[in-house]
Amino acid sequence: MHIDIITVLPELLESPFQHSIMKRAQDKGLLTVQVHQLRKWAVNEYGMVDDYQYGGGAGMVMMCEPLTKAIEELSANKKYDEIIFLTPDGETFNQKMANSLSLKESLLLICGHYKGIDERIREHFVTKEISIGDYVLSGGELPAAILVDAIGRLLPGVLNDETSALTDSFQDNLLAPPVYTRPVDYRGWKVPDILMSGDHKKIEEWRHEQSLIRTKERRPDLPENQ
Ligand code: ADE
Repeated sequence: MHIDIITVLPELLESPFQHSIMKRAQDKGLLTVQVHQLRKWAVNEYGMVDDYQYGGGAGMVMMCEPLTKAIEELSANKKYDEIIFLTPDGETFNQKMANSLSLKESLLLICGHYKGIDERIREHFVTKEISIGDYVLSGGELPAAILVDAIGRLLPGVLNDETSALTDSFQDNLLAPPVYTRPVDYRGWKVPDILMSGDHKKIEEWRHEQSLIRTKERRPDLPENQ
């Protein structure tokens, strides 16, 4: 999969993909991420990409021209399956969306800043608008990093143990069961006996039951519980 990201703050996206699983995904050639500075397509030599909003009001708006030029230039080399704008008024991101986006070949992410982007870009280029939750951040960079991480780890071959993404919380709309490692007794806090029984069928049943209990208690809003 290839992901292009357009931003005015590429520095914010330098580190998130250079470690751990995202690094491995790229080292294995399963994921490529390219970050593009929007100011490359600025309207003047001062790097201008935003302007006051029509009708008045506080906050600058990202202009049509730089974004159009960026999107058109990048699209000339690649056919994007989705052009995604990260915005608090988009559809709320969840595991189902991550699963479905992980099946795409090529994505373009647009990070908003200031008061937002000119609405005409949303109308004419953007194919999907995604929010990472009901709160407002200073820009779309951290949401873009979250999207890339959630999608990247699902690409076949990225995780060592292929089954581990399948047992994540939210796959099946269930939260993951509790996990334990050595020692078996720490300060008198014991690991449940069942996990040491060696009976894999019983262990799987216990884990499923724990997932159900946890989901019912913590996330009764998830569809399985309605
Ligand atoms: N930009 C600012 N806040 C955001 C959010 N919650 N989700 C996506 N993009 C954003």
